[in-house]
Amino acid sequence: MNEEQRKQGQLVESANPSDKKSEKDYSKYFQSVYIPPSLKEAKKRGKEEVKYHNDFDIPIEFKGLGEGKKFYIRTYGCQMNEHDTEVMAGIFMALGYEATNTTEDADVILLNTCAIRENAENKVFGEIGHLVHLKRENPELLIGICGCMSQEESVVNRILKKHRHVDIIFGTHNIHRLPNILKDAYMSKEMVVEVWSKEGDVIENLPKVRRGNIKAWVNIMYGCDKFCTYCIVPYTRGKERSRRPEEIIQEVRQLAAQGYQEITLLGQNVNAYGKDLEDIDYGLGQLMDDLRSIDIPRVRFTTSHPRDFDDHLIEVLAKKGNLVEHIHLPVQSGSTDVLKIMARKYTREQFLELVRKIKAAIPDVSLSTDIIVGYPNETDEQFEETLSLYREVGFEAAYTFIYSPREGTPAAKMKDNVPMSVKKERLQRLNALVNEFSAEAMKKYVGQVVEVLAEGESKNNPDILAGYTRKNKLVNFKAPKTVIGKLVKVKITEAKSWSLNGEMVEAGPIGAEFQEAEEVK
Ligand code: 5AD
Ligand code: SF4
Repeated sequence: MNEEQRKQGQLVESANPSDKKSEKDYSKYFQSVYIPPSLKEAKKRGKEEVKYHNDFDIPIEFKGLGEGKKFYIRTYGCQMNEHDTEVMAGIFMALGYEATNTTEDADVILLNTCAIRENAENKVFGEIGHLVHLKRENPELLIGICGCMSQEESVVNRILKKHRHVDIIFGTHNIHRLPNILKDAYMSKEMVVEVWSKEGDVIENLPKVRRGNIKAWVNIMYGCDKFCTYCIVPYTRGKERSRRPEEIIQEVRQLAAQGYQEITLLGQNVNAYGKDLEDIDYGLGQLMDDLRSIDIPRVRFTTSHPRDFDDHLIEVLAKKGNLVEHIHLPVQSGSTDVLKIMARKYTREQFLELVRKIKAAIPDVSLSTDIIVGYPNETDEQFEETLSLYREVGFEAAYTFIYSPREGTPAAKMKDNVPMSVKKERLQRLNALVNEFSAEAMKKYVGQVVEVLAEGESKNNPDILAGYTRKNKLVNFKAPKTVIGKLVKVKITEAKSWSLNGEMVEAGPIGAEFQEAEEVK
């Protein structure tokens, strides 16, 4: 363990997977070097100072580390992970590596993992298994596991014991250490494990290679302090820390100058943005207001927490301009009792009141949500309340999930009397409602002219283009390829449950007077 790691207060060192110790001794050995995140410890956090580092640079001795070599990163999970992959790709390129699209061609393979539900983890373990043959064919290949799963003790132990072809494990707080980690892996025959569970820093100036030049993600904060009882994120991503507004504004300005058309601000709980900035009184509302004056056509944010969604933000969003009229607002359940057990810190009525305020200020707003069904001991009546809330709000889209117990979270310890067959049935019923509401919302577009950001060829037909409206509706439309990357006006001719078909009528954005054309009543 080096001095820097010691100061960071966390783990770790190279672990030797070929160690001949007995299984019992072996796991003891790793526990002595790996200190996992725990609820008790995590809840004590928040007092430590957040350090901002603006001096990230690749030290000269690392330059050329990747000369003649190729990297491949497979990303699982949310946009935060997608964006972390862009940062890691930036670091790889700065080290002299080239990107490749195939694992067969790669000298380094990273799996940037997601821990949110069990099936996400199973997919990753399946992929780790598949990679064994590549390692056999090419023993020089480096295989690395990063992202949220690396922050879980049980996952690290399972890899150490059962997947010895893995060379590197590093955590979500160690991304900026990738050059050192790679170098260690080349120098050592042992598995390199570097997972800091004590976070607290915000690292600026990290290189990034964005996937595309039309839409960009911009982190505004990291971590989550909400501790919803089912959720692993506060442990895998650490405490809430906000980037300084001037850094965010500068990044968005640069993206606008580079011709990007759409920005999505990222955070696990963006409505808590700024709460930890002690020297200024500045929140998401102010940030959105400042971003309104930047010449970039669309600004979105994800993901919101209803509890922290304040009036000032609603007031700013109502000014529109480049602030789109689509809000993703995860509700999770329509039952106050379930929300209480989830520790969401709002009731059904408070959620509905928030929706009422948003709709009063932004009458044409489109709302989408996340819902978990089959929470431990969820009754039929409680599930019915979720369905009725969905109808009452009139959500236009939803990501729906069956509750998945996550080791170490409070909910995982709860007894659960709901059989899986009932959970599956509830999910089906909810999905039927979600489809019905989406189809209804889509139907109302037929005959209207909407603004679409043309992103590229349509997935199923390269002769037409695809893009999204301000309200995030997918549109497949006839238009010349020269408009890719631009805003265009599209007349909608047909509605499907989850997408629209149309024809371009004119290039260029729709003016403020027309934005209402998208209004769905
Ligand atoms: N089980 C099922 N769904 C979950 N989510 C988060 N944790 C779990 C879990 N343990 C869902 C929530 C969240 C979305 C990103 O994933 O709905 O909003
Ligand atoms: Fe997880 Fe979101 Fe709750 Fe944070 S606010 S604990 S990320 S569900």
